[in-house]
Amino acid sequence: MFEGWGVVITGAGSGMGAEAARRFAREGARVVVSDIDGAAANAVALEIAAPGPRDEPVRAIGVACDVASAQDCARLVASAESFFGAPVDVFLANAGVSFAGDFLTADPEALKRIVDVNVTGSVFSAQAALRSLVKSRRASLIFTSSISGVTARAKRSVYNASKHALAGLVKSLALEFGPAGVRVNAIAPGSTDTPFLRTHLAKVEDDVDAAVARIVSAMPTGRLVSPEDFADAAVFLASPAAKSITGHTLLLDGGAASGRM
Ligand SMILES: NC(=O)c1ccc[n+]([C@@H]2O[C@H](COP(=O)([O-])OP(=O)(O)OC[C@H]3O[C@@H](n4cnc5c(N)ncnc54)[C@H](O)[C@@H]3O)[C@@H](O)[C@H]2O)c1
Repeated sequence: MFEGWGVVITGAGSGMGAEAARRFAREGARVVVSDIDGAAANAVALEIAAPGPRDEPVRAIGVACDVASAQDCARLVASAESFFGAPVDVFLANAGVSFAGDFLTADPEALKRIVDVNVTGSVFSAQAALRSLVKSRRASLIFTSSISGVTARAKRSVYNASKHALAGLVKSLALEFGPAGVRVNAIAPGSTDTPFLRTHLAKVEDDVDAAVARIVSAMPTGRLVSPEDFADAAVFLASPAAKSITGHTLLLDGGAASGRM
């Protein structure tokens, strides 16, 4: 479905971003796999790129980028345009870091880093991306928000705040860039089976396995969201099937935000 398209994904060295990169590539896109961990990004890109027929263009490259740096984001988009030989068609601003813990005793520098990556990093990614996306005829900007951007939980203060900020960014950019032909949406996953989930829970739970079991039992679908579910949602939002969808945050939470079971 995405033959000839150019897709850029941040935070794609692991978890949902990596799975979305594999999926877009399988659907025919050329993909820039980006992560603050350049080795992880390269590993995912290599896995996607090999083994290809000799006359086929390289399917994926890895690019190191800390989204909290405006220079890194600008360099990422410049590398993508030169790899694609064309503007970026889909930019998935997926990189994010977690905060869980007591608000009063939290290290101010750690709190600042959550805002720097999840909010400022999304803003810098979007600004760099949109300068290229406005030149594409099928442009889509997608953020990875969270169920924590729609509802809140205690001991997740700054993470909740950072993801709520994305809802405003999505709506505002959808209005500003709709006339230029760019759709802007977010995916808000619930608890998803990636390394992030366990790291996040380990900050506030003594028994992570028991916490995961409690989460699963509170989900109407009876299972964690999978990285493949996330890739399905990203592919849908980027596709022509979603041509009337913009300014929207899509909950991908197995029904968890609907209420208590
Ligand atoms: N896993 C969940 O339960 C869950 C739920 C809701 C939302 N999310 C969100 O999904 C996104 C992806 O998370 P995941 O679950 O795939 O986690 P993950 O830890 O598997 O992957 C996140 C990737 O982001 C990278 N990263 C971190 N800081 C970065 C930075 N400054 N610049 C660039 N890359 C950076 C990491 O190196 C890592 O490879 C995040 O935005 C997260 O907030 C996760």
